[in-house]
Amino acid sequence: MQALKGFKDILPDEAALWQRVEATARDVFQRFGFEEIKVPILERTGLFARSIGEATDIVEKEMYTFNDRNGESLTMRPEGTAPVLRAFIEHALHLRRPLSRLFTIGPMFRHERPQKGRLRQFHQLSVEALGSDHPRLDAEVIAMARQILVELGLAAELQLNSLGCPACRPAYRQKLVNFFAGHQEQLCEDCRRRATANPLRVLDCKSANCRALNAKAPAILDALCPPCAQHLTTVRRNLDTLQAPHRLNPFMVRGLDYYTRTTFELITDALGSQGAVGAGGRYDSLVHRLGGQNLPGIGFALGIERLVLLLQEQPMAPASGPDLFLACLGEAAAEYGFTLLHQCRLAGLSALMNFQTPGLKSQMRQADRLKARLVLLIGANELNAGQAVLRDLTSKEECQVPLNDELAALLANKLPTPDPLISGL
Ligand code: HAM
Repeated sequence: MQALKGFKDILPDEAALWQRVEATARDVFQRFGFEEIKVPILERTGLFARSIGEATDIVEKEMYTFNDRNGESLTMRPEGTAPVLRAFIEHALHLRRPLSRLFTIGPMFRHERPQKGRLRQFHQLSVEALGSDHPRLDAEVIAMARQILVELGLAAELQLNSLGCPACRPAYRQKLVNFFAGHQEQLCEDCRRRATANPLRVLDCKSANCRALNAKAPAILDALCPPCAQHLTTVRRNLDTLQAPHRLNPFMVRGLDYYTRTTFELITDALGSQGAVGAGGRYDSLVHRLGGQNLPGIGFALGIERLVLLLQEQPMAPASGPDLFLACLGEAAAEYGFTLLHQCRLAGLSALMNFQTPGLKSQMRQADRLKARLVLLIGANELNAGQAVLRDLTSKEECQVPLNDELAALLANKLPTPDPLISGL
């Protein structure tokens, strides 16, 4: 039996990098005042159709949707924003704080064509800030997304756009429809359909012909109403204040319909065609559209798989093994060692032993393979003498230690303070 296509097992070596990504993100979230929220993986299908948009690729062809045993249409969440907003509204979280800063971490599901960096089950660090339309919040949230990458030692280009608002976007949309109607023959098959249903999507089509045409299409930045243009200018100024370099990309339109004004993506060229490590934007009408108050918001999501792929391309600190391996010879030593093993773990050490107690050579080989830092050798003689040899496998130094109740604490003190960079892995 094999895992489903696009569904991936995360094996222990890779899981260490996942922990590093998650720990780094949690640390940044905490400093920026964001709190965790956990929401279900399954939601009613209507939630996503209403928020992401009926005419998007996600809703049209990528959702895992099925009827449950009661005949209700359910969907495995393709993204985190809609479920978090549903929970925000359901639990009236706007009463808790004037500005809710929320994050959630977990799996999302999209039936896409799998390739490097693109899975059907993938994981996001997903963030939503609800309750303010101030451009400083845009800059703060974008700077936080960037900061997670910085603290992971990763680089990506920050691209920024504005998609306008209900006051200016419809007119722009109509301009695009008119423009594409006059150039049908130059559009790819997909875009011919999109040109009327979702014309903004044509702007980020990757096909050469569409790209050439898009270069001549009306530009959104020229069509923004004065308040949207002012908002964008202030976001950019605030990003400069926060030293977050960025580039305007008027062709970035995003694959979800709920965005208004600011949108952004963090792009790398190290992942082939799946260059977006993270993306997000403002959605000032979405809470209201989902049945809540008229509250603006902004958020983003970083793709954990893509962050991990980037980390895997970097030189890595060698993986560290257990602090201590107990090499016990004979049943009596193993009996003693079993108790000591537990005490060492309670004292804060990571410790292992081989319950089968093979010969000394075999156990020493095992300790080496595990990359243990210390080995304690205990046999019948050591038990009689009440002393055993402790060997440091890195420095090759040895010393005698007493086999008594203080030993676990003594061993815990013997270990050098771990290098924070390595222990963070
Ligand atoms: P999104 O652009 O659809 O936005 O996804 C955000 C990130 O999730 C992408 O930049 C990418 O890193 C990762 N991602 C998306 N699809 C896949 C996939 N099939 N395989 C691997 N990684 C993937 C959202 O989902 C919005 N909810 C973000 C947001 C939050 N906007 C406002 N608040």
